Amino acid sequence: MANADFVKGLEGVIAAESSICFIDGHAGRLTYRGIDIQDLAEHSTFEETCYFLLFGNLPKQAELDAFKAELAAGSVVPDEVMALVRSLPKETTPMDALRTAVSALGSYDPDALDNSDAANVRKAVRLIGQVTTLTTSFDRIRKGLDPIAPRQDYTVAENFLYTLHGEAPHPSSARVFDVCLILHADHELNASTFAGRVIASTFTNESGVSAVHAAATGAIGALAGPLHGGANQRVMEMLLKIGDLDAVDAFIDDLFANKKKVMGFGHRVYRTIDPRATVLRSFAKKLGEDTGNSKWFEMCEKIEKLVSAKTSKPIYPNVDFFSGAVFYSMNVPIDIFTPIFACSRISGWMAHTVEQLRNNRLIRPLADYQGLEKMEYMPMAER
Ligand SMILES: CC(C)(COP(=O)(O)OP(=O)(O)OC[C@H]1O[C@@H](n2cnc3c(N)ncnc32)[C@H](O)[C@@H]1OP(=O)(O)O)[C@@H](O)C(=O)NCCC(=O)NCCS
Repeated sequence: MANADFVKGLEGVIAAESSICFIDGHAGRLTYRGIDIQDLAEHSTFEETCYFLLFGNLPKQAELDAFKAELAAGSVVPDEVMALVRSLPKETTPMDALRTAVSALGSYDPDALDNSDAANVRKAVRLIGQVTTLTTSFDRIRKGLDPIAPRQDYTVAENFLYTLHGEAPHPSSARVFDVCLILHADHELNASTFAGRVIASTFTNESGVSAVHAAATGAIGALAGPLHGGANQRVMEMLLKIGDLDAVDAFIDDLFANKKKVMGFGHRVYRTIDPRATVLRSFAKKLGEDTGNSKWFEMCEKIEKLVSAKTSKPIYPNVDFFSGAVFYSMNVPIDIFTPIFACSRISGWMAHTVEQLRNNRLIRPLADYQGLEKMEYMPMAER
């Protein structure tokens, strides 16, 4: 009973106007506000990229310095929210813990009830810092360790590694991690960003509820799924399950024979290799060499060759394929991989939330109703 065209999964449907991110899926090109992702990966920092996504211009040095200071100051998580995180069962998945804690942050933010544009930006900056603090704190708490306060003189990347491992990160590791954050920062209307924009669109400036925290909470919920951000964890689990280079062929044969998906492959928009995967591939290779363990990288390359040989469909590695091996080489627990995605993507979510609220209209599509046209109500006794 369609009263408009229906496209399953909204494939190819344009659902928002935005100036933040552009993807040419056929050319394998990704830009943030016009700048190619490769250029940002080579020349920018995560802090500068956040500023650029949020404010729309590359910052001058003084602007960047002020932004970094605001980000570092905002990364502190209120004691009450930390107590909530401590109270969660140790088996809680890190993504569930993060979603719960980000929701709670909305009750303690000094601008909680202010949905003016300036307050939204202030809240966005705080959340960008706090998501990293929450991620690493939860990992330490569940291991029976005390959380480590982020250092005010550290970048987000440095603080992630420092507050996770408890020691000053090596500059080269911090830079690799910084670039990983840049690569994951935004990706147009991916499922979590769309979820965040839909939530933001229900708010007005007088809402009396923090639209920014509501959008971030919903976006984290959407990111957790294995078809989206949850794939990076599944890729590493797959590599560990395969275990050895010699076992790759049989494993991939089996997946294809049973029409199962290979995690870290395929994309709704790209019809060629995801440009982020190209950068991450080089990191996975380099880290493998540096740590004297190239096994994961070699397995990845073998899987890529096999998948390409087994299908004529445009199924190429996506951002999650090589990132697993990269994070694993940096001694990050596997179930923290998807929260890393959130530590970065929170910047894109916030840029999109602010953009949505600046020119808002409720996002409310239609359903193609497939049910009965008419049914009589049957009293309980007659059923
Ligand atoms: C990302 C993803 C959800 C995109 O989904 P989508 O645009 O809805 O595409 P579909 O799932 O409809 O896939 C289209 C076809 O390619 C196949 N395909 C897609 N991804 C595949 C994969 N990773 N492995 C094997 N086959 C795959 C599908 O089986 C389907 O084949 P069919 O037409 O014969 O049914 C999908 O590619 C996937 O599930 N990938 C694995 C999870 C992943 O890595 N997610 C992270 C995304 S960044």
